[in-house]
Amino acid sequence: MRLLTAAVTSLALTLGAQAASAAPVEIKFSHVVAENTPKGQMATKFKELVDQRLAGKVEVKVYPNSQLFGDNKVLEAMLLGDVQMAAPALSKFQKYTKQLQVYDLPFLFQDMAAVDRFQQGPQGQELLGSLKTKGLVGLGYLHNGMKQLSASDPLRVPADANGKKFRIMTSDVLQAQFEAVDAVPLKKPFSEVFTLLQTKAIDGQENTWSNIYSKKFYEVQPYITESNHGVLDYLVVSSAEFWLSLDEDLRTEVKKALDEAIAYGNNIAAEKARADKQAIIDSKRSEVIEITAEERAQWVEAMKPVWKQFEGDIGKDVIDAAVAANQ
Ligand code: SIN
Repeated sequence: MRLLTAAVTSLALTLGAQAASAAPVEIKFSHVVAENTPKGQMATKFKELVDQRLAGKVEVKVYPNSQLFGDNKVLEAMLLGDVQMAAPALSKFQKYTKQLQVYDLPFLFQDMAAVDRFQQGPQGQELLGSLKTKGLVGLGYLHNGMKQLSASDPLRVPADANGKKFRIMTSDVLQAQFEAVDAVPLKKPFSEVFTLLQTKAIDGQENTWSNIYSKKFYEVQPYITESNHGVLDYLVVSSAEFWLSLDEDLRTEVKKALDEAIAYGNNIAAEKARADKQAIIDSKRSEVIEITAEERAQWVEAMKPVWKQFEGDIGKDVIDAAVAANQ
């Protein structure tokens, strides 16, 4: 009887161990935006593809709207193994690399097609690996769109921004950009922007149509200047420790699903920007201001010195390649 009990116990332990070893690899994907944005939809698509193709082997759990980590904490959490994937804005990596700051230079890219050309070129591809020494792996670029300026008063020329407080992402380039027009930039997490605007603790902010719409900034900002002065793009990242711990075949499959999800997100980004801009106009909560070529030239002239200021950190060759991508 005792032998039988021992045998049953041992079988149970073996089965238990097998079940444990067969547990799917968990990928927590943390982001800060709404689900109905290019990044939100890309993350959902990634989960769907993994569910279809790798059920039982990999499980993706998506945490939108800063539910798991805010944008200022997610990379630290990733290095500690508390989250496996994220796609922070390129402006949020300066603690880890200075080179990605190229994406924040004002009036550098004329449109998203130019951003795409730069990213597909040698410099853009090299920047994907710029986090290697910090234990992070860049897995792909994801688009949102061009940034616009929203404010409590109309902004037509740089002088209109004088003395106004603008929320910015954690980027010294963005800080210099607003200082160049004598405004007061404040580095704050994305999750705080709506309340800061609503309570009038700040006067304005810069963001894409999809973020302004999905986070309802337009409901508390009566004016949005269509400035297209910068780009908001993302880097999908993982920690090297997690990424390289995946069995090679599995890693290939996960990467394939991720590439497809990124392509999906990038394909919908432009249409999302157009539709969300229209929805804001239709709401009549905020006036969309179109500036003239002459007014735009004033912003360019005021902000362009920022390029020189950061040339040493970014590299002249990288900036030149970005400029060349405009043709
Ligand atoms: C995001 O799109 O991930 C957030 C952008 C921001 O912080 O303004």
